[in-house]
Amino acid sequence: MTAPRIDILTIFPGWFDGPLTTSLLGRANEDARLDLRVHDLRDYTTDRHRSVDDAPYGGGAGMVMRADVLTAAAEAVWNDLPPEATAGRTDPPAGARFVAGGERPRTILLTPRGRRFDQAMARELAAEDRLVLLCGRYEGIDERVHDLVATDEVSIGDYVLFGGEVAAAVIIEAVTRLRPGIVGNDASPADESFADGLLEYPQYTRPADLRGHGVPEVLSSGDHGAVARWRHDQALALTRSRRPDLLGEPDPPCADGGSG
Ligand code: ADE
Repeated sequence: MTAPRIDILTIFPGWFDGPLTTSLLGRANEDARLDLRVHDLRDYTTDRHRSVDDAPYGGGAGMVMRADVLTAAAEAVWNDLPPEATAGRTDPPAGARFVAGGERPRTILLTPRGRRFDQAMARELAAEDRLVLLCGRYEGIDERVHDLVATDEVSIGDYVLFGGEVAAAVIIEAVTRLRPGIVGNDASPADESFADGLLEYPQYTRPADLRGHGVPEVLSSGDHGAVARWRHDQALALTRSRRPDLLGEPDPPCADGGSG
């Protein structure tokens, strides 16, 4: 099986040095079980300042990421071409299979206006052999990038970050750990929070007593059926109290009556 490939397009390539060289993700990348490639968007500029953004048409505060630069970067990465092949050009590269507005690999633009990322989407993306993650800066991205380059727009939550780098790292971690052969124990993702729509049941390990806090007796009973039932009941109770929305139930009223 070929390693799943993820290309990241960013103006802060160094940001990914940590995640890509440490932890399980870093090891998978080093062992070629995962093919993570980071691309600097500034390599696709042609001006002296290597500008990836410009002032907005119509005026207003802030800068907008340029569609020509992002299109050039995406077309080079999609087609495994060097930056010189697309930087500063307005036409798609000759003979290219993947072009903006046409056929292209799954290309996710990280933006607060995107579809909310969750475990179901992680599972959906884990089935792809190739993903391209496009990290925008929060102020704005030329709308033509949304239309012609991105195949999907994804948000990791209802808050605004400086840019998509943190969101890209979240997606990479959630997606890659679902791929067989990347987490050491392939059985564990099926057994965890959200896998069956519930939060995970409480876990314990030694010591049996910590400052008077013990371990539920059933877990040492050796009765596998009783353990499984206890775990399911606990998962259900935890989900009902913490995340009733996962069970299709309304949120409980706030403790203070919601008066603020
Ligand atoms: N960029 C800025 N904020 C974001 C968010 N919440 N999710 C994804 N990308 C973002």
